[in-house]
Amino acid sequence: LAPKPLAGKKLVITAGPTQEAIDPVRYISNHSSGKMGYAIAAAAQQLGCRVELVSGPCNLPSPYGVNRHSVVSAQQMLDTSLSLVNNADIFIGCAAVADYRAADQAQHKIKKSQATMTIELTRNPDVLASVAALDKRPFTVGFAAETQDIEKYALDKMQRKNLDMIAANNVALTGQGFGADQNALQVFWPQGKQTLELADKTALATKLMLLIAEHINKK
Ligand code: PMT
Repeated sequence: LAPKPLAGKKLVITAGPTQEAIDPVRYISNHSSGKMGYAIAAAAQQLGCRVELVSGPCNLPSPYGVNRHSVVSAQQMLDTSLSLVNNADIFIGCAAVADYRAADQAQHKIKKSQATMTIELTRNPDVLASVAALDKRPFTVGFAAETQDIEKYALDKMQRKNLDMIAANNVALTGQGFGADQNALQVFWPQGKQTLELADKTALATKLMLLIAEHINKK
């Protein structure tokens, strides 16, 4: 029998993009496919976790044995994550949450008239930082999608959002990051770091979960 280093642990993970409606037919979003988050959910389940997957809109089948909660907007992702995180051992924020939404959502389709138009945006809540701020919080792992100065920005996010660990990826490189089947991660925690070299997201996900397992067992 394969060893199950995370047997009995509860993981809540966010994955995919969020969509922020502008009117009934248009939205703000990004290129996240959900592949990285779904691969982590599947790997964690294989390693023994009970997995609650909070997923933005994506075209992927639910991983075997994982409870999937489908959401659309950042606010829904926050509400669902907070409702599931009680008694969780691990929280991973892998979703590409839209940082802003339209300040006002139009009731009806916006008609074109002027040559230019302006949409006022307002900041979305931060799902990861909200979980990290809970009194009784799980081991909290963030992602950092960066295009330059990866280490500097990742360490800054880990500190600012009060995380136990952060997995940074360079989303400017072709063949990895958004939408790709492969990825590479630089993982940081307060006392150290480890590079997980370019590999299929499924293999990378297992390596990340094993690294997390080492750290939560130390806690
Ligand atoms: O889905 P794929 O196509 O497989 O692509 C994978 C990925 C590139 C999306 C993934 O590996 C990744 O990097 N996910 C994080 C994307 C992101 O939004 O990063 P960020 O640096 O903007 O955010 C930092 C962290 O805060 C992330 O953990 C994010 O989930 C979280 N966050 C951000 C904003 C917000 N309002 N709420 C959040 O929880």
